[in-house]
Amino acid sequence: MKAVVICGSRNPKGRTARAVDAVVKGLSAAGVASEKVFLPTLTVERCRQCDDDGWGLCRREGRCVIEDDLAGLVDEVRRAAVVVFATPVYYSDLSESMRAFTDRLRRICTHETGRASIEGKPMIGLCVAGGGGGGAPACCVSLGKVMSTCKFDVVDLIPVRRQNLEAKLPSLELAGEWLASGPRSN
Ligand SMILES: Cc1cc2nc3c(=O)[nH]c(=O)nc-3n(C[C@H](O)[C@H](O)[C@H](O)COP(=O)(O)O)c2cc1C
Repeated sequence: MKAVVICGSRNPKGRTARAVDAVVKGLSAAGVASEKVFLPTLTVERCRQCDDDGWGLCRREGRCVIEDDLAGLVDEVRRAAVVVFATPVYYSDLSESMRAFTDRLRRICTHETGRASIEGKPMIGLCVAGGGGGGAPACCVSLGKVMSTCKFDVVDLIPVRRQNLEAKLPSLELAGEWLASGPRSN
């Protein structure tokens, strides 16, 4: 069993990364190895809205016409048993790299071929705010919405702010352990 952790921060030592590391520790304690991916290190273009009606290959075939790192990343998500999406909070919302990725992922998931091995997969989301912190819950709503559109099993969305990061680390570890147990909605 493997987890993939997709991080929308560019800083491997930042707050989002610290929150991620706590979840990874919990996953590991439960015997699940994690692969971490920092989206800003990859090439994931924004959607081109290919056709005049705004759709494209995504709707017809469940794949994207752009040849960049998206397809490989989607394959990793398909191979993983569980997924963690972690984003720093920018303007009370997802970071740009997380947005570019999730915008295209949800289009692929419009088609049943595209959402194969994604539909029903347990995921948790972390939204880590480093300023005033008030935007973390709104960011969780954004992330939850796109994850539901992709048809993940959204088992938890965790708002974190710099003021409570230390206090939340133990519960993030527990979230990782729980995710490793393969939570089911029924
Ligand atoms: C463009 C931008 C917008 C931001 N907007 C917010 C915000 O709305 N609320 C907040 O609390 N912090 C905001 N921040 C601060 C980030 O949440 C903070 O930098 C984050 O904790 C960085 O995480 P990282 O070190 O993991 O990359 C913003 C930062 C940037 C660069």
